[in-house]
Amino acid sequence: MSKSYFIETYGCQMNVADSELVSGLLTKAGYSETKDIHNADAIFVNTCAIREHAEEKVHSRLGYYHQIKKKNPKMIIGLLGCMAQNLKEDILESKPYVDIVLGPDSYRRLPEIIEKRNGNSTHIVDTKLSRFEVYDDMFPSRHLGINAWIPIMRGCDKFCTFCIVPFTRGRERSRSLEGIIDEIAQAVSDGFIEITLLGQNVNSYNHEGRGFHELLDAIANVVGVKRIRYTSPHPQDMTKDVLDVMGKHDNICNYVHLPLQAGNNKVLKRMNRTYTKEEFISLADQIRDKLPHVGISTDIIVGFPGENELEFQETLEVMDAIKFDSAYTFKYSSRPGTKAAEFEDHIAEPEKQDRLERVIKAQKEHTLQRNKSIVGRVEMVLVEKESKRSANQWVGRTDSNKWVIFDKENSHIRDFTPVRITEAKGISLHGKIVQLQGMEAA
Ligand code: SAH
Ligand code: SF4
Ligand code: F3S
Repeated sequence: MSKSYFIETYGCQMNVADSELVSGLLTKAGYSETKDIHNADAIFVNTCAIREHAEEKVHSRLGYYHQIKKKNPKMIIGLLGCMAQNLKEDILESKPYVDIVLGPDSYRRLPEIIEKRNGNSTHIVDTKLSRFEVYDDMFPSRHLGINAWIPIMRGCDKFCTFCIVPFTRGRERSRSLEGIIDEIAQAVSDGFIEITLLGQNVNSYNHEGRGFHELLDAIANVVGVKRIRYTSPHPQDMTKDVLDVMGKHDNICNYVHLPLQAGNNKVLKRMNRTYTKEEFISLADQIRDKLPHVGISTDIIVGFPGENELEFQETLEVMDAIKFDSAYTFKYSSRPGTKAAEFEDHIAEPEKQDRLERVIKAQKEHTLQRNKSIVGRVEMVLVEKESKRSANQWVGRTDSNKWVIFDKENSHIRDFTPVRITEAKGISLHGKIVQLQGMEAA
């Protein structure tokens, strides 16, 4: 009987894609995936180090795996990803039951490493970062669904002072355009409808002089690609060329994630974000000008070291000026090893909490306002899953990345369906399927 593995993934979509890569490797090495953690021969956890909370969660999961391993001592526990990269062999001091520690550039060696670990008793730690590894020639094992994650570049050279990613993921490097196109063509023939391009800095893609807009253009022309999304871009590389290509192709979703982080220029500078508040607002205006009805989301950090009340209020002002469709909001979390962790003017927890609540409240209002502005419109919705509230309803996403709830009628999962938006309530949208004459599902 073949050996079995259980894998669990935390963190960003890049980790989801990396876990698929790891699954592909394990399958090739003769392992099969199991959902039964208690009887697995190996447990892998792909981890995130972006905030302290992300690491705490994994520490507690590791404690749980330890209990399982006590009953099943031959089981291998493997720590993968950004937290593995960050903590390296240090993790073995407090958790000697961990067998394997592999950073994000070391997955290729996984089958060989498992063999070694099965053969003798030393722990194996491999956290060398590579300037070249892009796993271009590997076959991820995807569960058939709607969306296929396609990593196009890895690493980050931006070094925002709060962020651990440049240390856990290493230097920026891009896959070949041809390798990406081949993988997408394969994903389409496997039945995936939506393609999401991934990278820590997805729009700094550059392979032998070919930039992100050229890649996007080439992908949009691949036969059968119905929806293209990408994440996460950096405002600095959000060029006119990218917006032009987005405007040119209907199958590139009308959605941009534009991480603001903070609204005060001094704070932005200390974060090393490379743009000013004015430049950011003008970029958002330009995006809305060029791409009518575009959805724009953002990331915001409150309580960065030294941020005073008035500076924080400028974040609220920029939010108010742009009115993002949605936002991911975070309290600053100090990451040892980053530049900002060395700053001496850290903000107290209650202050951070208070600011977080204020940005969340502002964003809720903006989301509602933006959603209300599309009530009455007909949107093409890709039906993705059943609503948790009712077995008679679907939820699906618009091109602009908004979730809509609507009665199933005769539609099916994976259909593109014209839905008239009838109501915006809280942060959700409700709609009704319309029959458009002469309009075919895309
Ligand atoms: N460009 C990256 C961003 C990764 S981190 C990407 O590819 O996704 C996602 C978001 O986490 C960042 O935009 C930032 O808002 C937040 N973040 C990063 N480091 C943080 C920290 N130390 N504390 C709080 N939030 C942080
Ligand atoms: Fe982190 Fe900044 Fe790089 Fe994004 S661009 S991964 S926030 S360092
Ligand atoms: Fe986390 Fe690493 Fe992604 S730190 S957000 S898993 S790149």
